[in-house]
Amino acid sequence: MAEMMTAIAIEGGKGPAQALHATEALRPAPGPGEILIKVAAAGVNRPDLLQRMGFYPPPPGAPATLGLEVAGEVVVGAGRWKAGDKVCALLGGGGYAEYAVVDARHALPIPGDLDLIHAAALPETVFTVFANVFEHGALKAGETLLVHGGTSGIGTTAIAMAKAAGAKVIATGRGADKKAKALELGADIAVDTKAEDFAEIVKAAGGADVVLDMVGASYFDKNLDALNTGGRIVYIASLGGSTLEVPVMKIMQKRAVISGSTLRPRSADEKARLAAEVEGVAWPWVAAGQLKPIVDATFPLAEAAQAHAHLEAGEHVGKVVLVV
Ligand SMILES: NC(=O)c1ccc[n+]([C@@H]2O[C@H](COP(=O)([O-])OP(=O)(O)OC[C@H]3O[C@@H](n4cnc5c(N)ncnc54)[C@H](OP(=O)(O)O)[C@@H]3O)[C@@H](O)[C@H]2O)c1
Repeated sequence: MAEMMTAIAIEGGKGPAQALHATEALRPAPGPGEILIKVAAAGVNRPDLLQRMGFYPPPPGAPATLGLEVAGEVVVGAGRWKAGDKVCALLGGGGYAEYAVVDARHALPIPGDLDLIHAAALPETVFTVFANVFEHGALKAGETLLVHGGTSGIGTTAIAMAKAAGAKVIATGRGADKKAKALELGADIAVDTKAEDFAEIVKAAGGADVVLDMVGASYFDKNLDALNTGGRIVYIASLGGSTLEVPVMKIMQKRAVISGSTLRPRSADEKARLAAEVEGVAWPWVAAGQLKPIVDATFPLAEAAQAHAHLEAGEHVGKVVLVV
Protein backbone atom coordinates (compact mmCIF):
# COMPACT_ATOMS: atom_id res chain seq x y z
CA MET A 1 0.00 0.00 0.00
CA ALA A 2 1.39 3.42 -0.94
CA GLU A 3 2.46 5.62 1.96
CA MET A 4 1.09 8.72 0.31
CA MET A 5 -2.47 9.51 -0.77
CA THR A 6 -4.48 12.31 -2.29
CA ALA A 7 -6.37 14.49 0.21
CA ILE A 8 -8.05 17.88 0.10
CA ALA A 9 -6.27 20.74 1.87
CA ILE A 10 -7.33 24.32 2.57
CA GLU A 11 -4.84 26.80 1.15
CA GLY A 12 -3.81 29.21 3.91
CA GLY A 13 -5.62 27.11 6.57
CA LYS A 14 -8.98 28.81 5.95
CA GLY A 15 -10.73 30.60 3.14
CA PRO A 16 -13.41 30.54 0.42
CA ALA A 17 -14.45 27.39 -1.46
CA GLN A 18 -11.70 28.04 -4.05
CA ALA A 19 -9.11 27.55 -1.29
CA LEU A 20 -9.80 23.79 -1.41
CA HIS A 21 -7.30 21.86 -3.50
CA ALA A 22 -6.02 18.31 -3.91
CA THR A 23 -2.63 17.59 -2.39
CA GLU A 24 -0.36 14.65 -1.50
CA ALA A 25 -0.62 13.67 2.15
CA LEU A 26 0.63 10.86 4.37
CA ARG A 27 -1.82 7.96 4.47
CA PRO A 28 -3.16 7.75 8.06
CA ALA A 29 -2.20 4.66 10.07
CA PRO A 30 -4.84 2.99 12.26
CA GLY A 31 -4.13 2.75 16.00
CA PRO A 32 -5.52 0.11 18.37
CA GLY A 33 -9.25 -0.41 17.84
CA GLU A 34 -9.23 1.61 14.61
CA ILE A 35 -9.85 0.55 11.03
CA LEU A 36 -8.36 1.91 7.81
CA ILE A 37 -10.95 2.55 5.11
CA LYS A 38 -10.22 2.96 1.39
CA VAL A 39 -12.70 5.75 0.78
CA ALA A 40 -15.10 5.37 -2.14
CA ALA A 41 -17.31 8.38 -1.32
CA ALA A 42 -17.34 11.17 1.27
CA GLY A 43 -20.35 13.20 2.34
CA VAL A 44 -20.18 17.01 2.34
CA ASN A 45 -21.96 18.73 5.22
CA ARG A 46 -22.53 22.35 6.16
CA PRO A 47 -20.19 22.03 9.17
CA ASP A 48 -17.41 21.40 6.59
CA LEU A 49 -18.11 24.85 5.13
CA LEU A 50 -17.86 26.41 8.59
CA GLN A 51 -14.58 24.59 9.27
CA ARG A 52 -13.20 25.73 5.89
CA MET A 53 -14.01 29.33 6.82
CA GLY A 54 -12.23 28.94 10.17
CA PHE A 55 -15.36 29.01 12.38
CA TYR A 56 -15.47 25.33 13.39
CA PRO A 57 -12.02 24.00 14.30
CA PRO A 58 -11.64 20.22 14.62
CA PRO A 59 -11.88 18.99 18.23
CA PRO A 60 -8.62 17.88 19.91
CA GLY A 61 -7.23 14.71 18.33
CA ALA A 62 -9.36 14.94 15.17
CA PRO A 63 -7.66 15.17 11.75
CA ALA A 64 -7.39 18.67 10.27
CA THR A 65 -8.61 17.38 6.88
CA LEU A 66 -12.30 18.06 6.22
CA GLY A 67 -14.90 15.31 6.04
CA LEU A 68 -17.22 13.89 8.69
CA GLU A 69 -18.47 10.75 6.93
CA VAL A 70 -17.35 8.23 4.34
CA ALA A 71 -18.24 4.91 2.77
CA GLY A 72 -15.71 2.47 1.38
CA GLU A 73 -13.83 -0.78 1.88
CA VAL A 74 -11.97 -1.84 5.00
CA VAL A 75 -8.25 -2.28 4.29
CA VAL A 76 -7.05 -2.88 7.86
CA GLY A 77 -9.67 -4.39 10.15
CA ALA A 78 -10.33 -4.17 13.89
CA GLY A 79 -13.29 -5.00 16.14
CA ARG A 80 -15.98 -6.70 14.05
CA TRP A 81 -14.46 -5.59 10.71
CA LYS A 82 -12.05 -7.45 8.45
CA ALA A 83 -10.29 -6.39 5.24
CA GLY A 84 -12.71 -6.36 2.32
CA ASP A 85 -15.82 -5.43 4.36
CA LYS A 86 -17.86 -2.54 2.98
CA VAL A 87 -18.74 0.06 5.62
CA CYS A 88 -19.88 3.61 6.13
CA ALA A 89 -18.57 5.58 9.09
CA LEU A 90 -18.94 8.72 11.17
CA LEU A 91 -15.58 10.50 11.36
CA GLY A 92 -14.17 13.26 13.53
CA GLY A 93 -12.56 14.49 10.30
CA GLY A 94 -10.40 13.27 7.45
CA GLY A 95 -13.08 12.12 5.00
CA TYR A 96 -11.93 14.21 2.01
CA ALA A 97 -9.12 11.77 1.22
CA GLU A 98 -8.34 8.42 -0.40
CA TYR A 99 -7.98 6.73 3.00
CA ALA A 100 -9.51 7.44 6.41
CA VAL A 101 -9.00 6.01 9.88
CA VAL A 102 -11.85 5.61 12.32
CA ASP A 103 -12.71 3.91 15.62
CA ALA A 104 -14.08 0.50 14.56
CA ARG A 105 -17.20 1.15 16.66
CA HIS A 106 -18.10 4.22 14.58
CA ALA A 107 -18.38 2.20 11.37
CA LEU A 108 -21.63 0.55 10.34
CA PRO A 109 -22.49 -2.02 7.68
CA ILE A 110 -23.94 -0.74 4.39
CA PRO A 111 -27.69 -1.02 5.00
CA GLY A 112 -29.87 -2.84 2.46
CA ASP A 113 -28.60 -2.70 -1.10
CA LEU A 114 -27.35 0.90 -0.98
CA ASP A 115 -24.42 1.87 -3.18
CA LEU A 116 -21.42 3.48 -1.50
CA ILE A 117 -22.30 7.00 -2.71
CA HIS A 118 -25.68 6.89 -0.97
CA ALA A 119 -24.20 5.12 2.07
CA ALA A 120 -21.66 7.96 2.45
CA ALA A 121 -24.56 10.40 2.69
CA LEU A 122 -26.01 8.69 5.78
CA PRO A 123 -23.90 8.86 8.95
CA GLU A 124 -23.64 12.59 9.79
CA THR A 125 -27.31 13.41 9.30
CA VAL A 126 -28.72 10.13 10.64
CA PHE A 127 -26.63 10.31 13.85
CA THR A 128 -27.54 14.00 14.25
CA VAL A 129 -31.27 13.49 13.72
CA PHE A 130 -31.33 10.41 15.92
CA ALA A 131 -29.55 12.18 18.79
CA ASN A 132 -31.56 15.39 18.57
CA VAL A 133 -35.04 14.40 17.43
CA PHE A 134 -35.33 10.99 19.09
CA GLU A 135 -33.08 11.33 22.15
CA HIS A 136 -33.11 15.01 23.23
CA GLY A 137 -36.49 15.64 21.56
CA ALA A 138 -37.96 12.23 22.53
CA LEU A 139 -40.28 12.24 19.49
CA LYS A 140 -42.92 9.53 19.71
CA ALA A 141 -45.30 7.95 17.19
CA GLY A 142 -48.40 10.11 16.80
CA GLU A 143 -46.59 13.32 17.77
CA THR A 144 -45.79 16.18 15.39
CA LEU A 145 -42.26 17.19 14.37
CA LEU A 146 -41.68 20.67 12.98
CA VAL A 147 -38.41 20.67 11.03
CA HIS A 148 -36.92 23.82 9.57
CA GLY A 149 -34.74 23.67 6.48
CA GLY A 150 -36.75 20.65 5.36
CA THR A 151 -34.82 20.24 2.10
CA SER A 152 -31.36 20.42 3.72
CA GLY A 153 -29.23 17.32 4.30
CA ILE A 154 -30.46 17.26 7.90
CA GLY A 155 -34.03 18.20 6.95
CA THR A 156 -34.52 15.48 4.33
CA THR A 157 -33.22 12.91 6.83
CA ALA A 158 -35.42 14.24 9.63
CA ILE A 159 -38.55 14.07 7.46
CA ALA A 160 -37.87 10.43 6.54
CA MET A 161 -36.89 9.29 10.04
CA ALA A 162 -39.84 10.98 11.73
CA LYS A 163 -42.28 9.52 9.20
CA ALA A 164 -40.71 6.07 9.61
CA ALA A 165 -41.23 6.42 13.38
CA GLY A 166 -44.93 7.15 12.88
CA ALA A 167 -44.86 10.89 13.57
CA LYS A 168 -46.56 13.69 11.63
CA VAL A 169 -44.09 16.05 9.94
CA ILE A 170 -44.38 19.74 9.16
CA ALA A 171 -41.38 21.05 7.21
CA THR A 172 -40.40 24.60 6.35
CA GLY A 173 -38.23 25.99 3.58
CA ARG A 174 -37.56 29.38 2.10
CA GLY A 175 -39.37 29.41 -1.25
CA ALA A 176 -42.24 27.71 -3.08
CA ASP A 177 -39.89 25.20 -4.74
CA LYS A 178 -38.52 24.08 -1.36
CA LYS A 179 -42.06 23.77 0.00
CA ALA A 180 -43.01 21.56 -2.98
CA LYS A 181 -39.87 19.44 -2.53
CA ALA A 182 -40.57 18.94 1.18
CA LEU A 183 -44.02 17.60 0.33
CA GLU A 184 -42.50 15.28 -2.32
CA LEU A 185 -40.08 14.03 0.34
CA GLY A 186 -42.96 12.96 2.56
CA ALA A 187 -43.74 15.91 4.82
CA ASP A 188 -47.45 15.96 5.71
CA ILE A 189 -47.51 19.75 5.58
CA ALA A 190 -44.91 22.14 4.19
CA VAL A 191 -44.54 25.87 4.67
CA ASP A 192 -42.86 28.45 2.46
CA THR A 193 -41.49 30.77 5.13
CA LYS A 194 -40.95 33.52 2.57
CA ALA A 195 -44.69 33.74 1.93
CA GLU A 196 -46.40 32.07 4.89
CA ASP A 197 -46.41 32.28 8.71
CA PHE A 198 -45.24 28.87 9.92
CA ALA A 199 -46.53 29.40 13.47
CA GLU A 200 -50.10 29.97 12.25
CA ILE A 201 -49.98 26.93 9.95
CA VAL A 202 -48.50 24.66 12.64
CA LYS A 203 -51.06 25.83 15.25
CA ALA A 204 -53.92 25.25 12.80
CA ALA A 205 -52.57 21.72 12.27
CA GLY A 206 -52.57 20.94 16.01
CA GLY A 207 -49.19 22.35 17.12
CA ALA A 208 -45.70 20.90 17.28
CA ASP A 209 -44.43 18.50 19.94
CA VAL A 210 -40.81 18.64 18.79
CA VAL A 211 -39.07 21.37 16.78
CA LEU A 212 -35.73 20.58 15.12
CA ASP A 213 -34.20 23.97 14.54
CA MET A 214 -31.02 25.10 12.75
CA VAL A 215 -32.17 28.73 12.46
CA GLY A 216 -32.16 30.03 16.04
CA ALA A 217 -33.08 33.56 17.07
CA SER A 218 -35.12 34.65 14.05
CA TYR A 219 -37.51 31.66 14.44
CA PHE A 220 -37.62 31.43 18.25
CA ASP A 221 -40.84 33.38 19.00
CA LYS A 222 -42.77 31.52 16.33
CA ASN A 223 -41.34 28.15 17.44
CA LEU A 224 -42.50 28.79 20.99
CA ASP A 225 -45.89 30.01 19.77
CA ALA A 226 -46.37 26.85 17.69
CA LEU A 227 -45.18 24.52 20.47
CA ASN A 228 -47.67 22.27 22.26
CA THR A 229 -47.71 21.96 26.05
CA GLY A 230 -44.81 19.72 27.03
CA GLY A 231 -43.11 20.38 23.70
CA ARG A 232 -39.37 20.26 23.03
CA ILE A 233 -37.30 22.66 20.89
CA VAL A 234 -33.94 21.18 19.92
CA TYR A 235 -31.17 23.32 18.42
CA ILE A 236 -28.50 21.99 16.09
CA ALA A 237 -27.35 25.34 14.65
CA SER A 238 -28.17 29.04 14.71
CA LEU A 239 -27.94 30.14 11.08
CA GLY A 240 -30.43 32.96 11.71
CA GLY A 241 -28.96 34.30 14.98
CA SER A 242 -27.58 32.68 18.12
CA THR A 243 -28.90 34.78 21.02
CA LEU A 244 -32.44 34.14 22.25
CA GLU A 245 -34.63 36.39 24.36
CA VAL A 246 -36.64 33.85 26.34
CA PRO A 247 -40.05 34.71 27.84
CA VAL A 248 -39.78 32.67 31.03
CA MET A 249 -43.52 32.74 31.81
CA LYS A 250 -44.35 31.24 28.43
CA ILE A 251 -41.77 28.46 28.96
CA MET A 252 -43.42 27.71 32.30
CA GLN A 253 -46.96 27.83 30.91
CA LYS A 254 -46.05 25.47 28.06
CA ARG A 255 -43.75 23.32 30.22
CA ALA A 256 -41.39 23.70 27.28
CA VAL A 257 -37.95 22.13 27.13
CA ILE A 258 -35.26 23.89 25.12
CA SER A 259 -32.19 21.88 24.35
CA GLY A 260 -29.56 21.33 21.70
CA SER A 261 -26.40 19.45 20.96
CA THR A 262 -23.36 19.05 18.77
CA LEU A 263 -22.20 15.69 17.45
CA ARG A 264 -18.54 16.06 16.57
CA PRO A 265 -17.04 16.78 20.03
CA ARG A 266 -18.82 13.84 21.69
CA SER A 267 -16.53 11.21 23.18
CA ALA A 268 -15.59 8.06 21.25
CA ASP A 269 -17.67 5.96 23.67
CA GLU A 270 -20.68 8.23 23.25
CA LYS A 271 -20.43 8.02 19.44
CA ALA A 272 -20.12 4.23 19.74
CA ARG A 273 -23.31 4.18 21.82
CA LEU A 274 -25.08 6.31 19.23
CA ALA A 275 -23.79 4.08 16.40
CA ALA A 276 -25.29 1.01 18.06
CA GLU A 277 -28.64 2.82 18.52
CA VAL A 278 -28.64 4.04 14.93
CA GLU A 279 -27.86 0.56 13.60
CA GLY A 280 -30.70 -0.90 15.65
CA VAL A 281 -33.33 1.77 14.93
CA ALA A 282 -32.54 3.54 11.65
CA TRP A 283 -30.69 0.90 9.60
CA PRO A 284 -33.84 -1.27 9.30
CA TRP A 285 -35.64 1.84 7.97
CA VAL A 286 -32.96 2.20 5.27
CA ALA A 287 -33.13 -1.50 4.41
CA ALA A 288 -36.94 -1.23 4.15
CA GLY A 289 -36.73 1.81 1.85
CA GLN A 290 -38.36 4.13 4.42
CA LEU A 291 -35.19 6.17 4.87
CA LYS A 292 -33.61 6.95 1.52
CA PRO A 293 -30.53 9.16 1.49
CA ILE A 294 -31.24 11.98 -0.95
CA VAL A 295 -28.14 12.79 -3.01
CA ASP A 296 -28.48 16.09 -4.86
CA ALA A 297 -25.11 16.05 -6.63
CA THR A 298 -21.78 14.25 -6.74
CA PHE A 299 -18.35 15.72 -7.51
CA PRO A 300 -14.96 14.04 -7.95
CA LEU A 301 -12.74 14.43 -4.85
CA ALA A 302 -10.46 16.84 -6.73
CA GLU A 303 -13.49 19.13 -7.25
CA ALA A 304 -14.21 19.63 -3.55
CA ALA A 305 -14.15 23.40 -4.19
CA GLN A 306 -17.05 23.08 -6.64
CA ALA A 307 -18.90 20.83 -4.18
CA HIS A 308 -18.62 23.49 -1.46
CA ALA A 309 -19.71 26.24 -3.86
CA HIS A 310 -22.74 24.11 -4.80
CA LEU A 311 -23.75 23.65 -1.14
CA GLU A 312 -23.11 27.32 -0.42
CA ALA A 313 -25.45 28.35 -3.27
CA GLY A 314 -28.25 26.78 -1.20
CA GLU A 315 -30.33 25.39 -4.06
CA HIS A 316 -29.59 21.74 -3.28
CA VAL A 317 -32.09 19.22 -1.96
CA GLY A 318 -30.46 16.66 0.33
CA LYS A 319 -26.76 15.85 0.24
CA VAL A 320 -23.67 16.56 -1.81
CA VAL A 321 -21.16 13.70 -2.05
CA LEU A 322 -17.52 13.53 -3.20
CA VAL A 323 -16.61 10.46 -5.25
CA VAL A 324 -13.05 9.26 -4.64
N1 LIG B 1 -25.38 20.10 15.97
C1 LIG B 1 -25.01 19.09 15.23
O1 LIG B 1 -24.64 18.03 15.72
C2 LIG B 1 -25.03 19.24 13.73
C3 LIG B 1 -24.66 18.18 12.91
C4 LIG B 1 -24.75 18.34 11.52
C5 LIG B 1 -25.20 19.55 11.01
N2 LIG B 1 -25.52 20.56 11.85
C6 LIG B 1 -26.00 21.85 11.33
O2 LIG B 1 -27.26 21.66 10.75
C7 LIG B 1 -27.45 22.61 9.71
C8 LIG B 1 -27.86 21.88 8.44
O3 LIG B 1 -26.77 21.12 7.97
P1 LIG B 1 -26.82 20.52 6.51
O4 LIG B 1 -25.52 19.85 6.26
O5 LIG B 1 -28.07 19.78 6.34
O6 LIG B 1 -26.85 21.88 5.66
P2 LIG B 1 -27.53 22.34 4.31
O7 LIG B 1 -28.00 21.16 3.52
O8 LIG B 1 -26.59 23.26 3.66
O9 LIG B 1 -28.82 23.15 4.78
C9 LIG B 1 -28.80 24.38 5.43
C10 LIG B 1 -30.24 24.78 5.68
O10 LIG B 1 -30.23 25.93 6.51
C11 LIG B 1 -31.31 26.74 6.15
N3 LIG B 1 -30.99 28.13 6.50
C12 LIG B 1 -29.79 28.74 6.44
N4 LIG B 1 -29.89 30.00 6.90
C13 LIG B 1 -31.18 30.19 7.25
C14 LIG B 1 -31.90 31.29 7.80
N5 LIG B 1 -31.30 32.44 8.08
N6 LIG B 1 -33.22 31.13 8.03
C15 LIG B 1 -33.81 29.96 7.75
N7 LIG B 1 -33.18 28.87 7.24
C16 LIG B 1 -31.87 28.99 7.00
C17 LIG B 1 -31.46 26.55 4.66
O11 LIG B 1 -32.81 26.76 4.44
P3 LIG B 1 -33.51 26.95 3.01
O12 LIG B 1 -33.45 25.59 2.39
O13 LIG B 1 -34.85 27.38 3.34
O14 LIG B 1 -32.69 27.94 2.24
C18 LIG B 1 -31.03 25.11 4.45
O15 LIG B 1 -32.14 24.28 4.39
C19 LIG B 1 -26.12 23.35 9.54
O16 LIG B 1 -26.21 24.58 10.19
C20 LIG B 1 -25.13 22.44 10.23
O17 LIG B 1 -24.03 23.15 10.75
C21 LIG B 1 -25.45 20.44 13.19
